[in-house]
Amino acid sequence: MKRKIILSMGLMVLLCTMVFANGQKEAASQGDGLITVGYAQVGAESDWRTANTESFKSTFVEANGYKLIFDDAQQKQENQIKAIRNFIQQDVDYIVVAPVVETGWETVLKEAKEAGIPVILSDRQMDLSDDSLYTAWVGGNFLKEGQDAIKWLNDYVKKEGRANEELNIVLLQGTIGSSAQVGRTKGVTEGLAKNPKYKLLAKQTGEFTQSKGQEVMESFLKAYPDIDVVIAENDNMAFGAIDAIKAVGKVPGEDIIIISFDAVKEAFNRMVAGEINCDVECNPLHGPRVAEIIQTLENGGTVDKIMYVKEDVFDTSNAAAMLPTRKY
Ligand code: AHR
Repeated sequence: MKRKIILSMGLMVLLCTMVFANGQKEAASQGDGLITVGYAQVGAESDWRTANTESFKSTFVEANGYKLIFDDAQQKQENQIKAIRNFIQQDVDYIVVAPVVETGWETVLKEAKEAGIPVILSDRQMDLSDDSLYTAWVGGNFLKEGQDAIKWLNDYVKKEGRANEELNIVLLQGTIGSSAQVGRTKGVTEGLAKNPKYKLLAKQTGEFTQSKGQEVMESFLKAYPDIDVVIAENDNMAFGAIDAIKAVGKVPGEDIIIISFDAVKEAFNRMVAGEINCDVECNPLHGPRVAEIIQTLENGGTVDKIMYVKEDVFDTSNAAAMLPTRKY
């Protein structure tokens, strides 16, 4: 009898252990019903980037059915590759990448494809030999942004009666090899080349940061005392350039025309103050756009491979009126 009791107790413990273990396994495989998204972000180099991060963090929340694993690569491609491999290991449902540079992604994207995880690109593009390595891309048209900047300059010099004047121009470039830099530089340099009155004195990277933008502008001002136009491939570099210009006793926006990209709120303040003449918009609010792509895919739908976001051009004539409407 004693033996029977011990045996049935043992059986019960075994059963309980099996039920518990099974429950644990269920919890791990089904999770909490949330869609897990790994976001390999470029870094935190600019106001634009901060707004972009915020857009993802506020969209991919539990209340909307998501779990976000966020990684800041500190502007290094090797960190982004590591982050993508981590996401694969964690078996996330979707991988989102804002690639630091355009090239060098094939190997890691093949790993994601083999793991059956869809990759969505956002903001910057990749230069890939095989387009099936990603599902969709959403972002700004950087080439058009560069072209729009020069279109604005052409109109401005005409309006100011300076069309016959030779203009000395310097270009502060973004991270070399990033699609934002490649597209904007192409649009700007090709546009400038069409007008013999424009002289591009120099172009150099300011890494999309304020401090580097200031540093490069300081060296430009030393090398070229007669600069008429600065084109900065993002707002933070423009802010740095403005500090450098003020430091040599010149008035930004008056002595030197400043054209910038992004159109973040602070840039609108600078346009209202007359320090930036023109700002070509680059919209960072991609969180909801990527969420829409994911929802379509979850519902079995198909999405466009390339989705350009609508972007505007602002200048001192409309900045004050637009400032209250700006979301970033
Ligand atoms: O890729 C978009 C660019 O990256 C933005 O112009 C810049 O501010 C950011 O760092």
